[in-house]
Amino acid sequence: DASDLLRGALLQLSGSDAVRAAVVKAPVSRSVVARYVAGEEVADAVRVTGELRSTNRLTTIDHLGEDVTERAQAEHTRDTYLALLGALDEADLSRFGAAEVSVKLSAVGQAIPGDGDAIALENARAICEAAERVGTTVTLDMEDHTTTDRTLEAVRALREDFPWVGAVLQAYLHRTEADCRDLAGPGSRVRLCKGAYKEPASVAYQDGGDVDLSYVRCLKVLMAGEGYPMVATHDPRLVEIGQALASHHGRSPDSYEFQMLLGVRPLEQKRIADRGHQMRVYLPFGEDWYGYLVRRLAERPANVRFFLRSLASS
Ligand code: FDA
Repeated sequence: DASDLLRGALLQLSGSDAVRAAVVKAPVSRSVVARYVAGEEVADAVRVTGELRSTNRLTTIDHLGEDVTERAQAEHTRDTYLALLGALDEADLSRFGAAEVSVKLSAVGQAIPGDGDAIALENARAICEAAERVGTTVTLDMEDHTTTDRTLEAVRALREDFPWVGAVLQAYLHRTEADCRDLAGPGSRVRLCKGAYKEPASVAYQDGGDVDLSYVRCLKVLMAGEGYPMVATHDPRLVEIGQALASHHGRSPDSYEFQMLLGVRPLEQKRIADRGHQMRVYLPFGEDWYGYLVRRLAERPANVRFFLRSLASS
């Protein structure tokens, strides 16, 4: 439909350097960024995590940045995560996974030509060691479909030493129901989301209704399994189905959780937490907010108008 078309157009347009420069400069960008991003510094991420704690919300913190092609930059990202984990520990926010971290492998070196996978794995391993020291966990975000196999391979390798490492699966991919079956075993942490990238029909459902049906099939597998499902969606129907499936399978409230993005449906986040469910907020911070912001804007037609206006006024 029209909103799918708009979303596709926006995601394509956003790849242009000229568009990127215009958006980053546009004054209106600042207020949009402030809604979806905690700030640019480690201290901002820690502060917002503390604020969310006061309303019983947990966090998973993402240092923004992706498609890093230089080793030094990948190591800088790794070091930022280490600093973040240290700061969370100091603020007494990391124990028992109250605040965990989300890592994109492309931010820690996966896209570096040649040995990118090995570099990313080494950096991710250092982040996992630091997380373990301060009593929390790491989830590897999922990026576009060309990286799915390599990312799942990294999850598998890391889980040998850190069995609590979480994976993200995207319901829009045809393969995901099978991946859910593979990852529904004991101890496995899986975040299920719809998927945020522009993907071809050869690998992904294109119709929103088909994505939703796939999400429900995947959720059934995860909730029936022995792992720890992380239900990442703002879609009220899917949240309701998640709750119904959890009680159908007799799951206790600490055996699964809901997750939403910072700035999206905040009142609903609080309501879900108030009802005694675990609610975790995905909290991005850092200077490199462009790619993340574009995907958030593409999710809502109203946001697309905002984006175009910000271009026109720049
Ligand atoms: P959908 O987009 O259908 O939205 C349902 C409703 O939620 C909308 O009608 C609207 O009311 C509200 N809403 C959704 N997005 C909004 C927005 N941006 N602004 C305002 N309202 C909005 N993707 C990925 O490919 N890899 C990943 O690793 C992750 N990780 C991840 C972690 C967590 C915790 C979440 C919540 C999401 C992700 N995602 C992700 C993103 C995910 O794939 C998806 O793009 C978004 O969550 C939007 O999909 P919904 O399930 O919310 O449904």
